[in-house]
Amino acid sequence: MTDDVARTEQRTSGRLIAVAGALLATAVLALLATNRVAKAGEHVVSTRFAGAEGCRACHPTAYQKWRNSAHARALAGLGERERADPKCRQCHTTDPEESDAALAGVQCEACHGPGRYYSLDYVMRDQELRELLGFRQTDEKACLRCHTESTPSIRPFVYQEKYELIRHDEPESAAKPSQG
Ligand code: HEC
Ligand code: HEC
Ligand code: HEC
Ligand code: HEC
Repeated sequence: MTDDVARTEQRTSGRLIAVAGALLATAVLALLATNRVAKAGEHVVSTRFAGAEGCRACHPTAYQKWRNSAHARALAGLGERERADPKCRQCHTTDPEESDAALAGVQCEACHGPGRYYSLDYVMRDQELRELLGFRQTDEKACLRCHTESTPSIRPFVYQEKYELIRHDEPESAAKPSQG
């Protein structure tokens, strides 16, 4: 009887140790992976965002296309006082609250969602997981948040037309870190 109790206790604590070990291993792996991304991208600019530099290693084509777009210059194009104006920041930068220069302009994460936690290879490949960790499926609605009727434009916003101007498909071989 006492033996049984002792054995049960042993099994229970053994299982607890195993669970704790698994949790620890996951945490360490996540930390290592995050650091790897941080190194590849050079910047980890906030707790929620990776910054365009953090997406670059795995999405070089998208990055180049974006780099040359009006979105990348959206904040730089404003005057000094306007750059600090919360009203203008609402649409001219990635996140109005984040003042880090590495998030300046309308970056990837303004459309795809804050990427600090989904910018990992295995997360990106798992649709459910990446959406749990901040990734957003992007469509016309994402554009209309900023391209409203009141924004300065001679022509109305027609999604298919405007999307063609910023489209940044990756070739099949992409989404692999370029360097370790
Ligand atoms: C470590 C590499 C890596 C990093 C860093 C990374 N991605 Fe990805 N991304 C991938 C991979 C791999 C896929 C392909 C997933 C698939 O084919 O299912 C992908 C797919 C995508 C897709 C297409 C999803 C779809 O609809 O299928 C988008 C959009 C995307 N990433 C955006 C980003 C953004 C924005 C960042 C930066 C915040 C980023 N990624 C950082 C590896 C990465
Ligand atoms: C609701 C979102 C929104 C707000 C708020 C906003 N803008 Fe804009 N702004 C846009 C969009 C979208 C465009 C691009 C319109 C287009 O060309 O189709 C734009 C374009 C511009 C342009 C023209 C850029 C160019 O190269 O032609 C200037 C200048 C500008 N905005 C200044 C400002 C200033 C200053 C503020 C703050 C007082 C501000 N905007 C607030 C969305 C916004
Ligand atoms: C203005 C909004 C916007 C910005 C900024 C933006 N994207 Fe996208 N992106 C889209 C839309 C819209 C699509 C097409 C729909 C989709 O796949 O979600 C797309 C598609 C993609 C895809 C999938 C393309 C494919 O091959 O099917 C990847 C990868 C991607 N974006 C990465 C990035 C990265 C990396 C950045 C920054 C360097 C970025 N995007 C900036 C809106 C944006
Ligand atoms: C966070 C706000 C924001 C979002 C979201 C956004 N844009 Fe923009 N977009 C801007 C601003 C601001 C400009 C003007 C940049 C400048 O010229 O300084 C702009 C400019 C543009 C331009 C160049 C000017 C033009 O009209 O030809 C295109 C094209 C464009 N956006 C397409 C899109 C598309 C497509 C989407 C959705 C997939 C989108 N944008 C989402 C803020 C945004």
